[in-house]
Amino acid sequence: MNWIAIGTLSDIPRRGARCVATPQGKIAVFRTADDQVYAIDDHCPHKGGPLSQGIVHDAAVTCPLHNWVISLETGKALGADEGSVRTIPVKVEGERLFLALEALASRAA
Ligand code: FES
Repeated sequence: MNWIAIGTLSDIPRRGARCVATPQGKIAVFRTADDQVYAIDDHCPHKGGPLSQGIVHDAAVTCPLHNWVISLETGKALGADEGSVRTIPVKVEGERLFLALEALASRAA
């Protein structure tokens, strides 16, 4: 697995996110209240809202446009809504964060 460095944990506020531009599109990287880190496409499965600007609660994010709730663990819409986004493996080494480049490449192929 090839990992690409995307900065450090402290670059992302707790219950916040950062949008990372990659060759395979924009990825939203989230940090939960208990410092878990998740990465999913920054593109809501409803109408493409920027999930990195949503509200993080537990291991989910609420889309800023029409309030769909997306699981950060599975990328799936929760509740009555149907749809999903790609999840990207994240590795945390000390303070440093990495995304799985091969997962990005193979899923885009
Ligand atoms: S675009 Fe995300 S809920 Fe509509």
